[in-house]
Amino acid sequence: ASLELGPYSHFMQKEIHEQPRAIADTIEGVIDAGTFSAELFGDDAADVLAGIEGVQILACGTSYYAGMTARYWIEAIAGLPCSVEIASEYRYRDVVANPKHLIITLSQSGETLDTMEALKYAKSLGQERTLSICNVPESAIPRASRLVCYTRAGAEIGVASTKAFTTQLVALFTLTATLAKLRGRLDEAREAEYLDALRHLPGSVQHALNLEPQITAWSEHFAPKEHALFLGRGVHYPIALEGALKLKEISYIHAEAYPAGELKHGPLALVTDAMPVVVIAPNDSLLEKVKSNMQEVRARGGELFVFTDEESQFGPSEGVHVIRAPRHVGVLSPVIHTIPVQLLAYHVALARGTDVDKPRNLAKSVTVE
Ligand code: G6P
Repeated sequence: ASLELGPYSHFMQKEIHEQPRAIADTIEGVIDAGTFSAELFGDDAADVLAGIEGVQILACGTSYYAGMTARYWIEAIAGLPCSVEIASEYRYRDVVANPKHLIITLSQSGETLDTMEALKYAKSLGQERTLSICNVPESAIPRASRLVCYTRAGAEIGVASTKAFTTQLVALFTLTATLAKLRGRLDEAREAEYLDALRHLPGSVQHALNLEPQITAWSEHFAPKEHALFLGRGVHYPIALEGALKLKEISYIHAEAYPAGELKHGPLALVTDAMPVVVIAPNDSLLEKVKSNMQEVRARGGELFVFTDEESQFGPSEGVHVIRAPRHVGVLSPVIHTIPVQLLAYHVALARGTDVDKPRNLAKSVTVE
């Protein structure tokens, strides 16, 4: 291994393990400030964010899934309608613009052509309130945006994005809480609770990373398979999507994700013992519903691999494998549940002997159409 890799075999593995540090660095500003204030997003931010009536998020790939996750937060916590769209779709659509909506572009590289063009298109429609969440300072997309929030993941080399995704999530959560506060929807107790949740997050991510040996053991079940299904509900549905994307990108196993409630409208027809089913099932308000979705899978002979947390009171049984994160971390739970799906993809790819850091046909940053 090269000097840069240290004890790790691949950049992807190194970057997965850097997440506690990357997240701590990204939230340093808000933790030091001890409050969610508009200034975190630039001097101009209080003006730009005042009076917004909705949010439109634009992104590609993994960044798009960060946006999908944020939609649940923005609507529930900040009370703002939020749409999320793939940049290459938005840019070619006859969009009905609303100048009171905030346009958020998400891009690790800040150079993705479709995202850049979608931003230009939004601006051409009179959308002047623009905010970029980006990992590369002074790249094209932040330069074209009025407000900028830099994630501090550090250089990401593995083509499959990992630490950029979780740092985008914490930046989006910080933005959500800030919007809620500006709109008078965040009382002191709630603000303290969110700051505390952020403060504890790097430690909780480290606990999730410590599950690696158990996930390595699971990877042997997946390596010989050609298909996998990922299920989640609510704010964890985008994490299922991200898990499926990671697995297909680097292991070349065909993987798709469904909101678990939609199982009966199609994918249930595919379930056999040849297709492992991964379920993101933390102890949230949808857990009972997810459990009944899992029974539907089991009844058809599908093998279940469930990521849950301690509070779910959920144990393994015949055909049901369970890995439990130490505790439920509340509103930031999607960040924690990202870790095991990243590790699963990594170890399955290792077992299949693919080129983990440079998967075939894919590029780290797509600057052409
Ligand atoms: C490529 C990369 C992905 C990334 C996507 C968007 O497809 O392989 O990992 O999620 O581009 O990139 P961005 O830099 O805009 O986040």
